[in-house]
Amino acid sequence: MSENTYYITTAIDYVNAAPHLGHAYEKIATDVMARFQRLLGKEVFFLTGTDEHGTKVEKTAQSRGVTPKQHTDELVEEFKKAWQYLNLTYDRFIRTTDKDHYEVVEHLWRKMAAKGDIEKRAYTGLYCSGCEKFVTERDLNEAGECPNHQRKPEEVQEENYFFKLSKYKEALQHHMKTHPGFVLPDFRAAEVLQMLEELEDISVSRHKSSVSWGIPVPDDEEQVIYVWIDALSNYITGVGYQHDDALFSKFWPADVHVIGKDILRFHAIYWPAMLMSAEVPLPKQVFAHGFININDSKISKSVGNVVSPFTLQERFDLPNPDPIRYYLMTVATFGQDGSFTEEDFKLKVNADLANNLGNLLNRTLNMTNKYFEGQVPKSQYAKAAVLHTEGVAEVREAYEAYDFQKAAELILQLVDWANKEINDKEPWTLFKEGKTQELADLMYTVLETLRQVAIMLSPITPALSDEIWSQLGYQATLSDLMPRWEDISGTHIQPGQRINLQGPILPRLDSELAGATKKK
Ligand code: ME8
Ligand code: MG
Repeated sequence: MSENTYYITTAIDYVNAAPHLGHAYEKIATDVMARFQRLLGKEVFFLTGTDEHGTKVEKTAQSRGVTPKQHTDELVEEFKKAWQYLNLTYDRFIRTTDKDHYEVVEHLWRKMAAKGDIEKRAYTGLYCSGCEKFVTERDLNEAGECPNHQRKPEEVQEENYFFKLSKYKEALQHHMKTHPGFVLPDFRAAEVLQMLEELEDISVSRHKSSVSWGIPVPDDEEQVIYVWIDALSNYITGVGYQHDDALFSKFWPADVHVIGKDILRFHAIYWPAMLMSAEVPLPKQVFAHGFININDSKISKSVGNVVSPFTLQERFDLPNPDPIRYYLMTVATFGQDGSFTEEDFKLKVNADLANNLGNLLNRTLNMTNKYFEGQVPKSQYAKAAVLHTEGVAEVREAYEAYDFQKAAELILQLVDWANKEINDKEPWTLFKEGKTQELADLMYTVLETLRQVAIMLSPITPALSDEIWSQLGYQATLSDLMPRWEDISGTHIQPGQRINLQGPILPRLDSELAGATKKK
């Protein structure tokens, strides 16, 4: 582990259906953080993937009349297609069916067993395969159903292996107290401390007769390792645990596991306890984000409100995924729930990206053509660190605090400022009155603001930032150039640079129009 590396992970998704906006939300947020850390000059490892074993996937495959492996092979392609579309810059896509992962899970199991933390016990309990967990009567609603899945759990009577989780209660409490920020946001840390009050040992295997799609327990053909033990281990497999020592020591412990609020217990309690048992260092942080609802309802097949990134791409004829990325990162404070509606999506993207930002670029470049023959004018402001240094520092703090909504808001404030400068100082009047130096200073500050905005917004809107960059007249693309955060204030746009006006960076979204175009 070195100061200059950064290891970030997402939850790995169950492969039941193609990914929806909720899955996309988490992956985009993780990608934004990964891109921001690269801007800071960190060497980043970004891991995502799929969680392929367990009852849930086994049943879905059965209902489709295919083997679990056929099923997951097909669906994994849907995930990869969606993530490619969304421009995710992950370094490895891990599948829990990967060979190295099998070996890691077996190894980890043996280490925990050797520690005396795994033990066979007779067990009777209720299992919800929707949640992939054992539940108790008090988790159920009045009809005796799991409230998340509106289904009665199965009664399970078997001999299972147990992990002595309760043994780690004090150690976990101690870790939480001595590592503030281990779980973020803070209110989630409070929930974890609450959960730790009552900690019981957990069943970590199932009999082969109830689930066969999984990794067998080492030295016991009859038992299959519990899907969560398997899934959580992906975070160390992903950076070479037991397979690539150089990679592993470079990136582990992870800087952050980005996960949804519904799987906090697994990440903040089970996972650290497993690692303590196996004597592997703990990750530095777990960030639990909120849920994206659609039209104020939980995303669900039965409600019929499942929206995928491709639904939006088609409906609005999106030229690139940045409207989706931008909207999801600004719909709520990261950590809180957010609600997606198509109307709000359209309004927000049009207001911020097409109008405020898009028009600023367009009008500025048009005036640069008109008043300065398409060249960045000479100005007293053409030196480093004269513009927006405070704003830039605030944006950085917001990104560092996972507050992507605030980062975007602060950047858009600079865009508003530049638009207002133009409206207040009226370049056309300055031109008419022959106030050439004032005009040059004004146009220069606006062009330089656009340069800074393009870099600062690039973790969220990489394609639009590339577009702005190229219209500002740079030869290399922003993505190829790989600028550093310091370059925002440390350099500046050069007088004499020839701008390259190309028209709107983003056409205004109009779902009616998109629908109409498709019909004809
Ligand atoms: O839980 N809004 O997989 P999963 C935001 N395989 N996030 C959402 C969401 C929504 N509407 N719906 C789901 C699993 N998520 C396990 C994880 S990790 C070792 C194993 C998030 O497919 C959810 O919170 O049910 C989770 O972080 C991720 O999507 C995958 O959910
Ligand atoms: Mg889930």
